[in-house]
Amino acid sequence: MKVLGILGAHKKDGFTGQMLATMLNAVPKGNETELLYLADYDIKPHTAAPNPTLKALIAKLAESDVWILAAPTYWGSVSGDMKHFLDCLRPKLVYQKKNGDTIPGPFKNKHYLSLTTCYISALDNYFSGATDGTFRVLDKVMSAAGVIKVGEVVLPGTFGMKTIPAKKIALCEKWGQRLVTKDRRDDNTLKRYIQLFLMIAVMALITMALQGAFRQVLPLQNFFVNWGSFVLIFFVLLAGILHFVTVMKHRRR
Ligand SMILES: Cc1cc2nc3c(=O)[nH]c(=O)nc-3n(C[C@H](O)[C@H](O)[C@H](O)COP(=O)(O)O)c2cc1C
Repeated sequence: MKVLGILGAHKKDGFTGQMLATMLNAVPKGNETELLYLADYDIKPHTAAPNPTLKALIAKLAESDVWILAAPTYWGSVSGDMKHFLDCLRPKLVYQKKNGDTIPGPFKNKHYLSLTTCYISALDNYFSGATDGTFRVLDKVMSAAGVIKVGEVVLPGTFGMKTIPAKKIALCEKWGQRLVTKDRRDDNTLKRYIQLFLMIAVMALITMALQGAFRQVLPLQNFFVNWGSFVLIFFVLLAGILHFVTVMKHRRR
């Protein structure tokens, strides 16, 4: 297998670059790794004109099984270098149908891990979600391209940091080892159904418990009051959990 680390950052040896290098170094022997520092290339959009640089980069993407997309968080989003690279690649990431819809292109079913770093502390990031914007952009592009996510890693608190904390180094090493060892099929469908079932079971239980708690004030023997209050409580819980899953799901610490 080949793991390609793609670094879109102002500094090659900054914290993001160091995290990426640690991950690549941990990839078990017998597998190939390569680090691509985007600033080394003069990347121009894919057009009808010859574009040997982009062509060479596309070949590297094609020959790799797993991509590590590493970009620091700049202005609450993905770094410009990484965004520019993904923008230029668009016609190679997705095919466009006649009606303008896009479908995954030739990289469908490859795998990626996203990695970012930021100045603000883990606690600040936990509450403000400063790095969510970075992950969201990467996820949006990769999901359009049909590339399957294997995980995400964040290093917050780089302001004043001298060396990367040991536990983050260990995390990078763990990911480096895991990237090539697991069966990388997207077999999450069953897992998602099980999660959905458990979510509904727990929410129904909480809803019924809350209804029970309001038994004194709610005439629950009336079918419509019983049904209406169940729907209302269930909806509030569902909205809350969906908000959590869609807004708060990214790694922040
Ligand atoms: C242009 C620019 C914008 C930045 N915006 C943010 C930001 O919005 N939030 C944040 O926490 N850090 C921000 N930072 C700090 C970087 O994310 C942080 O220093 C990161 O660890 C740099 O990675 P590096 O060491 O790999 O260069 C910004 C840095 C630059 C240069």
